[in-house]
Amino acid sequence: MTLAPAAPDRHALLLRYDRPVPRYTSYPTAAAFHDGVGPQALERRLAGTVDRPLSLYVHVPFCRHACWYCGCNRVTTQAGSRAVAPYLAALARELERLEAAIGGRRRLEQLHWGGGTPNYLTAEETSALCQLISRHFDPVPDLEASIEVNPEFLDRERVLQLRQLGFNRISFGIQDADPAVQQAVNRVVPVDQLRRVMGWMREAGFDSVNVDLICGLPLQTPGRFAATLALVRDLRPDRVSLFSFAYLPEQLPLQRRIAAGDLPTREQRLTMLEDACSGFLAAGYEAIGMDHYSLATDGLALAAREGRLHRNFQGYTTGGELDLLGVGPTAISQFPDLFVQNHRELRTYYGAIGAGRLPVERGLVVDDPAVLERRALIRDVMCRFRVAFDPRRFAREWADLQLLAADGLVTLSEQAGQAVAEVTPAGRWLIRTVAAVFDPEQRRRASGSRLI
Ligand SMILES: C[S@@+](CC[C@H](N)C(=O)[O-])C[C@H]1O[C@@H](n2cnc3c(N)ncnc32)[C@H](O)[C@@H]1O
Ligand code: SF4
Repeated sequence: MTLAPAAPDRHALLLRYDRPVPRYTSYPTAAAFHDGVGPQALERRLAGTVDRPLSLYVHVPFCRHACWYCGCNRVTTQAGSRAVAPYLAALARELERLEAAIGGRRRLEQLHWGGGTPNYLTAEETSALCQLISRHFDPVPDLEASIEVNPEFLDRERVLQLRQLGFNRISFGIQDADPAVQQAVNRVVPVDQLRRVMGWMREAGFDSVNVDLICGLPLQTPGRFAATLALVRDLRPDRVSLFSFAYLPEQLPLQRRIAAGDLPTREQRLTMLEDACSGFLAAGYEAIGMDHYSLATDGLALAAREGRLHRNFQGYTTGGELDLLGVGPTAISQFPDLFVQNHRELRTYYGAIGAGRLPVERGLVVDDPAVLERRALIRDVMCRFRVAFDPRRFAREWADLQLLAADGLVTLSEQAGQAVAEVTPAGRWLIRTVAAVFDPEQRRRASGSRLI
């Protein structure tokens, strides 16, 4: 068995396996949510949980303009505070209702603001939102507080303010630093600004800085992308999230502004992903799952080494199996036995809050032990890169894994009657494919996004 086949063979192998697969930020995936689960399910779930620690996600949906590749749930508006005021008022009511359902203030261990663009808010609005949160929750002294920002219109004062407010982790999107690529996706942020932003984040003393990159954007070539990769290695963020461009013009009309002929070929995309991987490894980063790189000193790499990595709708986290409560439009809440998602349209989100309800649109109850067992197996593949199971009860999965083993994507062994599969370095790229072996829905109908 070859663990690291030569490049042409490796490319052929990866391209052969490159089918749509979920990102497994949850199992079952959000595609299974339905409107039979509503606000009452969340209220019942929260009752009596006041003693349990919590992770809070706040969705800030606004963006000043649209980046044409974007698949995030967001609202493009120049209305500024006129748009933000009703949003903050709605969040205030949502948080009040949540505290009433909980029956008190829960201890906050993790906080994450995502979007959209959280730095769409002014300094005053940002402070007001922080106060709102601390009115309804008790942040622990070592709260892990993270925020996503767009570097395009970020200044030093705002970066320092975020740190002062208690954020200790920050993430900003570079995507690609090449001017032609930036023009082709309607997101122009000069390299000088990116360097300044990184300098302010270091000056502010964030514990961890993450950079987002996208591979597969229009006009990207391995040569051009090499310059972006060199810039990122030079900026030396603690973490890098390297996403493969999810090009879905049927579902995302904005992406139709991107000329399909400008997109790199699959071979080029694969070369860029591999160049990124070898470059980051050589620069002292560790590869985490299929799309994250982390400096060995960063909490994410430590958690991966110690088997403490977890995965939720924000991707890989270090926060154990905390209940995740999502507020704001589109936000997802995640409990061991329940998912709920808020209304995705701002109008219906405001409508539900105005009518005095929690703004839950849909969800899923997960109480079947067989499904929970599969969730644990998928979690082990995605987060521990190793899974052990009874080969008689999971005979079909065992047989499928043997095919993956023959291609060098996993190694298999049997220990005390248990089958053990370990993801190889080559299989890391296809980790979602390995996880999908335990997902019967995926066997029936392939869905999700491709690696390449
Ligand atoms: C909410 S944005 C990050 C914060 C901020 N709005 C910004 O643009 O810098 C989340 C990230 O998702 C990634 N993303 C968005 N659309 C994508 C797509 N179609 N394919 C792959 N990654 C995508 C981008 O890397 C982006 O930085
Ligand atoms: S990438 Fe960020 S700034 Fe651009 S449209 Fe998406 S959410 Fe908004």
